Amino acid sequence: MPTTANIQDVKKELEQLFRSTKSPQELMKDIVELLHERMLKYNWVGFYLLETEANGQPPMLALGAFRGAMTPHTRIPLNQGICGAAAASGETVVVDDVAQDPRYLACSLETKSEIVAPVFVHGKVVGELDIDSHFPAAFHNEDRQLVEYCATMVGQCWEQSQS
Ligand code: SME
Repeated sequence: MPTTANIQDVKKELEQLFRSTKSPQELMKDIVELLHERMLKYNWVGFYLLETEANGQPPMLALGAFRGAMTPHTRIPLNQGICGAAAASGETVVVDDVAQDPRYLACSLETKSEIVAPVFVHGKVVGELDIDSHFPAAFHNEDRQLVEYCATMVGQCWEQSQS
């Protein structure tokens, strides 16, 4: 498992990214690269962004920046998947064994556990950070804090870009 010290190092690198970043899009791209490279059990790392409602169609999550194998789930309705659950509830969802969760939309046969943390802008969910692991129960409290920290940074960067 990644150690706490390791996570603290990654947090410092994230802070540097945040300070030097130009746009939320650039920050999201840098975050998925960093987490995928440095956190050995984070085997798929990606953002989904909430599409704005159009023509009365239900809102969908659309795949944004990601690292890992291409997923068949490029657009996910809010009533489907772990991703839909996190965006609809505005709560981080951690699944230790995806095979036991009926909401789970399979992306890779190797995936065993998953975490999804919503991104908020001015209190509203605008997207989420989704991470899959090939290891069961890979996401502990310190991982949850790290993933939520990343989601918060993206929300803050997004708000700053609008001001
Ligand atoms: N497993 C997700 C779908 C997205 S892939 O993991 C990249 C879900 O259940 O919503």
